[in-house]
Amino acid sequence: MTDLDQLRDHLLAAVEASGGLDALDTVRVGALGKQGTITGLLKTLGGMSPEQRLVEGPRIQGLREAVTAAIADKKAALDRADLDARLARETLDMTLPADGVGAGSVHPVSQVMDELAEIFADLGFAVATGPEIEDDWYNFTALNIPETHPARAMHDTFYFPEGEGERKMLLRTHTSPVQIRAMQAAGGNKPIRIIAPGRTYRSDSDATHTPMFHQVEGLVIDKGITLGHLKWTLETFLKAFFERDDIVLRLRPSYFPFTEPSAEVDVGFSLVNGKRVIGGSDGWMEVLGSGMVHRTVIEAGGYDPDEWQGFAFGCGIDRLAMLKYGMDDLRAFFDGDIRWLKHYGFAALDVPTLSGGVGA
Ligand code: PHE
Repeated sequence: MTDLDQLRDHLLAAVEASGGLDALDTVRVGALGKQGTITGLLKTLGGMSPEQRLVEGPRIQGLREAVTAAIADKKAALDRADLDARLARETLDMTLPADGVGAGSVHPVSQVMDELAEIFADLGFAVATGPEIEDDWYNFTALNIPETHPARAMHDTFYFPEGEGERKMLLRTHTSPVQIRAMQAAGGNKPIRIIAPGRTYRSDSDATHTPMFHQVEGLVIDKGITLGHLKWTLETFLKAFFERDDIVLRLRPSYFPFTEPSAEVDVGFSLVNGKRVIGGSDGWMEVLGSGMVHRTVIEAGGYDPDEWQGFAFGCGIDRLAMLKYGMDDLRAFFDGDIRWLKHYGFAALDVPTLSGGVGA
């Protein structure tokens, strides 16, 4: 037996005798590592004569390959044994009661948005969206609020730093810019019925104002649209939303640059055990702004105001949620406190219905 044969027998025996992955690795390092015996042998090839190398090279390589293969086989066998042992050890008791899956809940704002989409879908309205980072033209100018108009100051706008010659960008202060975008998208010659729910931003913060809040815009453009259509639509919407037939509306003459005439809409409440409940007319709560779309705005949207009329309304979604589901601090809506969500949230798998109720 040559030295190489002896070494081979010795190493293969050591591989076979390894009782675990650590022991096997020690054998591997001893043979094939930087200081390993086989590595050492390979290094001697450089010092041999070409004839000798021709004989010894293949032998040493053959040894290396045989040992490498034996180590791989042994490793696979040890891994399998390890898995078998674990499978035998870690039994699963199928009779134990299952843990419930922690389902999240739907935020009241999302719930109300779903309800709005559903109510207005029944009235033939599609849902439209627009960007939250708006350009000053869509948010103000096209809505008949020119540069010097005091309404711009009233909106507490978040502006972006202005670049040289660039369009003035801002966080939209209301969903009304979607009116313009919807008219442009429709191309100036088709009737429109959309609602546009989404985030809006104003620099304001107290119990009833947060810098980010939600609005829903409504827009109808058609021929022969009157204030009567506006009133009927709002009445139908609010009755469906609050799920009461005794909803009373009060349209108060008001002013918005983008509507003429304009009306603020109050909904009547009754006092039940000292608490305000929507319905009846013991008192009034303002819920939305509305009006007939101003001809300048119809024109800015690419429609001919002599042919097309329309009405629009804008409403705070958070406020609707507060009135329907009885929360009193708007800031809690956006704190992300899981306890608040557990209490006021809606079951995630519920199909949006109008009878969800609090803590479903
Ligand atoms: N955009 C107005 C606001 O934010 C609401 C509104 C929308 C009023 C459409 C009239 C018509 O206050």
